[in-house]
Amino acid sequence: MLLDVRDLHVEFRTRDGVAKAVNGVTLGVDAGETLAVLGESGSGKSVTAQAVMGILDTPPGRITGGRILFQGRDLLSLKEDERRKVRGAGMAMVFQDALSSLNPVLSVGDQLGEMFVVHRGMSRKDARARAVELMDRVRIPAARERVSQYPHQFSGGMRQRIMIAMALALEPALIIADEPTTALDVTVQAQVMDLLAELRREYDMGLVLITHDLGVVADVADRIAVMYAGRIVESAPVHDLYKAPAHPYTRGLLDSIPRLDQKGRELNAIRGLPPNLMDIPPGCAFHPRCPMAGDTCRTDVPPLHEVDEDRGSACHFWRECLHG
Ligand SMILES: Nc1ncnc2c1ncn2[C@@H]1O[C@H](COP(=O)(O)OP(=O)(O)O)[C@@H](O)[C@H]1O
Ligand SMILES: [Mg+2]
Repeated sequence: MLLDVRDLHVEFRTRDGVAKAVNGVTLGVDAGETLAVLGESGSGKSVTAQAVMGILDTPPGRITGGRILFQGRDLLSLKEDERRKVRGAGMAMVFQDALSSLNPVLSVGDQLGEMFVVHRGMSRKDARARAVELMDRVRIPAARERVSQYPHQFSGGMRQRIMIAMALALEPALIIADEPTTALDVTVQAQVMDLLAELRREYDMGLVLITHDLGVVADVADRIAVMYAGRIVESAPVHDLYKAPAHPYTRGLLDSIPRLDQKGRELNAIRGLPPNLMDIPPGCAFHPRCPMAGDTCRTDVPPLHEVDEDRGSACHFWRECLHG
């Protein structure tokens, strides 16, 4: 397995209290596989990604438990300089907001080229040529002319392609894309998703695709891990999950996808709000919002039940949910 995260815990100690952002996340990604991590805002998706990348804001953040294995290496035991080598060359990240992630006063060619100068010891001239190549790879038209332009001269979709090119530069084994298309309009979203899927195949990379939008991942993901209050509550191959969710939260998310054939109908959004991470409800964290909750749900934390060999659900009533 390329990435193997086991029982990861992350807390934030703030003046107001301790926010338990990640509470025992276990997930795995193989080479060539796309895992979508899905959950509402605040469910701990980005914090999980930051912990894996080694860019967690510490303090106030702190990893309080678990292991992160990457290509068999225990990342949490590495020294910072070794960890830095893993970033970029081993795994790279694509963020939501290209404009604030790219340097506004450097041309995109200089920024892309920098990767090769710093990590590969290339000359400026060779690095520039590689930058043009990369821009071609992510299908930026007229790359040779545009390589000297600055980030603000590109559209949102093109900037996101530049971010993807930066991530690809050192041909990492894994890319983590954190809401890479959230800031884009729907058509451009689909194009960027398709590009990611295509590059994933071309380079045989693992891809972790973080999103709060179940609608955008169906075509590109192999598996989906659904997060709620810092835990994976359901994990399944994408088609199984769409066909029959084994967790009421997943069902709620599926029901709230706007469908073209149901235009004008009211969205069936999940009632209530995500929990306060400084005061997570006892038992199943989802129980206050769950239409299926029973007494056990208020007291006992559901373990991740094996639904079948490659599927899990952290719901006491997963059978009823699956067949209901
Ligand atoms: N820098 C930070 N300082 C304090 N708390 C944080 C910080 N980053 C994240 N958190 C806490 O972790 C929670 C989960 O955040 P995040 O992983 O960003 O959610 P999302 O699923 O939307 O990506 C936040 O709601 C917040 O309570
Ligand atoms: Mg996030």
